[in-house]
Amino acid sequence: MKRVDDFRWRIGGKDLVPIMIGGMGVDISTAELSLVAARLGGIGHISDAMVPTVSDRRFRTNFVREKQKKYKYNVANRDKSDVKFDLDRLAEATKLHVGRTMEARQGEGLIFINCMEKLTMNNPRETLRVRLSAAMDGGIDGITLSAGLHLGSLALVADHPRFRDVKFGIIVSSLRALALFLRKNARLDRLPDYIVVEGPLAGGHLGFGMDWAQYDLKTIVTEIHRFLAQEGLDIPLIPAGGIFTGTDAVEFLEAGAAAVQVATRFTVTRECGLPPKVKQEYFKAREEDLEVNMISPTGYPMRMLKNSPAIGSGIRPNCEAYGYLLDGSGNCAYIDAYNREIDKHPDGVNISVRDKTCLCTHMRNYDCWTCGQYTYRLKDTTRRLPDGTYKLLDAEHVFRDYQYSVDHQIMLPDGLNRS
Ligand SMILES: Cc1cc2nc3c(=O)[nH]c(=O)nc-3n(C[C@H](O)[C@H](O)[C@H](O)COP(=O)(O)O)c2cc1C
Repeated sequence: MKRVDDFRWRIGGKDLVPIMIGGMGVDISTAELSLVAARLGGIGHISDAMVPTVSDRRFRTNFVREKQKKYKYNVANRDKSDVKFDLDRLAEATKLHVGRTMEARQGEGLIFINCMEKLTMNNPRETLRVRLSAAMDGGIDGITLSAGLHLGSLALVADHPRFRDVKFGIIVSSLRALALFLRKNARLDRLPDYIVVEGPLAGGHLGFGMDWAQYDLKTIVTEIHRFLAQEGLDIPLIPAGGIFTGTDAVEFLEAGAAAVQVATRFTVTRECGLPPKVKQEYFKAREEDLEVNMISPTGYPMRMLKNSPAIGSGIRPNCEAYGYLLDGSGNCAYIDAYNREIDKHPDGVNISVRDKTCLCTHMRNYDCWTCGQYTYRLKDTTRRLPDGTYKLLDAEHVFRDYQYSVDHQIMLPDGLNRS
């Protein structure tokens, strides 16, 4: 019987343990978590979501306060088109976050950054260019392009000195999206170094509609595999979404995947950025406590716990401090939804917005509890403590469990197996 450790992914001249911990914004996949994966010979991700905010928390910088101060005059204004990011400050924050992470890297593994196109930041092209090039300047090993089709993203950094050295990957949920990406980028003569195929059971935003349940990861992976073979393209495939045990991973590796991307199992590790109380919510969750909804202003469905404080919250849009989801004209679907409610209740008391959420603020405060479908199985991966809480896990423990387990067994923190 095979285990993940029987496989290796050869990339960048290295033979890696084929386990990639997926990017989880905002700072849920922390530098600390990514460093464990790299130390153990796999791949970790940090996220480029709201990096100035993350930098303030991590390094006591003042990027958010500075921006807030500059745009204070606009707080009561419904029009947010004035609220822009200072590109130099954005580059500085990104270089700091990436650079410090890379300095701390040990072991043979790699560290990538997850870069979401939907963070349009009231200037989609230039803010994306700055984030990508600053991450490359900061020494990142690879960039995973996510949350968007990224038809023009690679071209933005094609003249960067590290363009052919940094590994680039794209997350897709359909063959159609991949074919479009390859066609649009053909003239750059630079194929992606890997393709993450994310199925409908993943956490975060989904690349499906509300009919996500009709899709299945294995079918999409097989379809993309066949397409690449027909086209004579040898690009490593990395399935993601619902790979909960080492045995789940082996099934994909045996079918030809180069590695797997996993995330949910790491949300309840000590190194994950979620606050301890929120980790307990993830442990406690039952299947009926999860939902996929449309409250993200990005327009993509998102899976989360139904008791997330973000759902139904009616806080004032906080774009002067954050503003990561403002489109190129300074609009965000939450602003419209919020103003509609204010118009209905001009006293501003007890405002609740149910159809959209202020995702920047709620992700920043860990109040939007996005998660993968198998979050309800997390309680089976640990022991309960005498006070009734669940014991947090070490990321190394979870990584090793993926690497060595067989027969769908899950190793508990005391070293015993549960199958
Ligand atoms: C809490 C959480 C946050 C996530 N945030 C992001 C994100 O910011 N960007 C992204 O591309 N994927 C995000 N994902 C998706 C993961 O990177 C990964 O592809 C997927 O969740 C793997 O499936 P699994 O969670 O069932 O293992 C997130 C997943 C979780 C659980």
